[in-house]
Amino acid sequence: MARKFFIGGNWKCNGTLEEVKKIVTMLNEAEVPSENVVEVVVSPPFVFLPLVESLLRPDFQLAAQNCWVRKGGAFTGEISAEMLVNLGIPWVIIGHSERRSLLNESNEFVGDKVAYALSVGLKVIACIGETLQQRESGSTMAVVAAQTKAIADKVSNWANVVLAYEPVWAIGTGKVATPRQAQEVHLELRKWLHDSVGAEVAATTRIIYGGSVNGANCKELAAQPDIDGFLVGGASLKPEFVDIIRSLT
Ligand code: G3P
Repeated sequence: MARKFFIGGNWKCNGTLEEVKKIVTMLNEAEVPSENVVEVVVSPPFVFLPLVESLLRPDFQLAAQNCWVRKGGAFTGEISAEMLVNLGIPWVIIGHSERRSLLNESNEFVGDKVAYALSVGLKVIACIGETLQQRESGSTMAVVAAQTKAIADKVSNWANVVLAYEPVWAIGTGKVATPRQAQEVHLELRKWLHDSVGAEVAATTRIIYGGSVNGANCKELAAQPDIDGFLVGGASLKPEFVDIIRSLT
């Protein structure tokens, strides 16, 4: 079964009311392939989710950029998975490298978050990726396999999981992984899923690439057999995000 392409737009900590409305207008006016070909999920900051939810075209979906690791309560400043479900937000990004590094989110904590989010009915974009030092020391696969194992240890149903491989050294740097570098890791990840989880999960789980994807490099990356789409940061705030969506056909 062919895997439907998936593209996420991670707006990160950006936007004002005016800018958000302009981006949504741009997205609503975009001519893109059917949602049966490319699944498009945009991820504004929490504070803009209800507004974007009320304005965004029905064939695009929304994701939060994080959620708490257990049922809500006395956790000041956190947003619970239940709140996202209550708002009708279907997706959540978990384990982004910026949270792993800035907030010390461990592999185990990320695994627990993924499992909890899935347990309340959310769909998860689970992020993994190595640092430049880890790549240069030859431990890329060991690192991303450990990150993926920490998720696999807690997740039994992968139907609502998209795996996002985002080499940390490519995020926000303009230094995109070459198609060969990205395909190599995606293939190894698919083999890991096959051997450690099962053939069906390996065949059906979308593995998407993130890290300086833009309108110029997306086509060559999209042509790689084990790259099932993208998680786009900076370029998702610009009209070129539409070009990137179109590259996935
Ligand atoms: O989550 C996507 C993000 O980490 C990639 O950012 O700006 O390099 O596309 P960017």
